[in-house]
Amino acid sequence: MANLKIQSSRVGIIGVGNMGEAVLAGLIKAGVPQELICFSVRSTERKIEVEKKYQVKSASNIALAKESDILLLAVKPQGLDELLTEIAPSVNPSAVVVSFLAGKRTVLLEAALNPKQSVIRVMPNTPMMFGEGMSIISAGKSVKESDLEYLREILLGCGKVIEVSEDLQDATAATSGSGPAYFFAFVEAIVNGAVKMGISEKVATELVTQTIVGAAKMLAESGKSASTLRENVTSPKGMTAEALAVFNEGKLQDLVARAMKAAADRSHELA
Ligand SMILES: NC(=O)c1ccc[n+]([C@@H]2O[C@H](COP(=O)([O-])OP(=O)(O)OC[C@H]3O[C@@H](n4cnc5c(N)ncnc54)[C@H](OP(=O)(O)O)[C@@H]3O)[C@@H](O)[C@H]2O)c1
Repeated sequence: MANLKIQSSRVGIIGVGNMGEAVLAGLIKAGVPQELICFSVRSTERKIEVEKKYQVKSASNIALAKESDILLLAVKPQGLDELLTEIAPSVNPSAVVVSFLAGKRTVLLEAALNPKQSVIRVMPNTPMMFGEGMSIISAGKSVKESDLEYLREILLGCGKVIEVSEDLQDATAATSGSGPAYFFAFVEAIVNGAVKMGISEKVATELVTQTIVGAAKMLAESGKSASTLRENVTSPKGMTAEALAVFNEGKLQDLVARAMKAAADRSHELA
């Protein structure tokens, strides 16, 4: 059933920046036919780039609003009000509107579009582009199970999907939405530490990239917790124990919890 929908529903994407591109690449990977995908951006240069790279057509926001069965919004949260004012009169009432915007609540979109509009909020992350994303979905009040099933199916082509109640969206956004940036920052810090000890940046980057890929695979596939895996590589009084002691002195756990709280608070402010 859902598969049939993938082969026949027209998908519109408004905003193809970092996130919109990750979603677009994921949709194609999930088997959505390119001729059913249409997008809009503001700059002509970007429009030509996306058309060429993904072999999909562009259209105006209004045309997408009218003609899409599933309308994906991936503009910056700051641009949402203006966009909703532009498209609200044209959005197909039976379309499923999916917002990828941090902070923006489904009630806000329902109020701006149509109280009965099917609105789903998704907190994605950019590894979707490589089929390894994490999408967290929350349904608005008029969403049918078949809408959720369809969205789940296309997002599954882009990685994993979980559903949470909407009041957890700020916290989950601060966990997996911003999460890739936390790991990138950590990689930058390790590369920097390696360079300080005389390793070239190129070699350090290769060492750290393979290490994070290997560690992620162990975590995903070994069935063991991060604590167990950490303990397994930490011999008492060994070199890893020395490094972890320095993390503890610097209160790494507190620092990360504070950073995540700041991200969640910001998501809440963007509502
Ligand atoms: N980046 C992430 O890791 C991430 C993670 C989770 C959630 N998100 C959410 O994803 C959304 C997009 O973030 P981003 O990082 O992808 O931003 P971005 O790179 O700045 O992309 C925004 C895109 O929206 C287009 N756009 C803006 N206003 C438009 C309008 N009125 N009509 C048509 N297109 C319009 C821009 O087009 P032009 O380039 O032509 O201006 C651009 O393609 C945000 O709401 C964010 O909360 C992002």
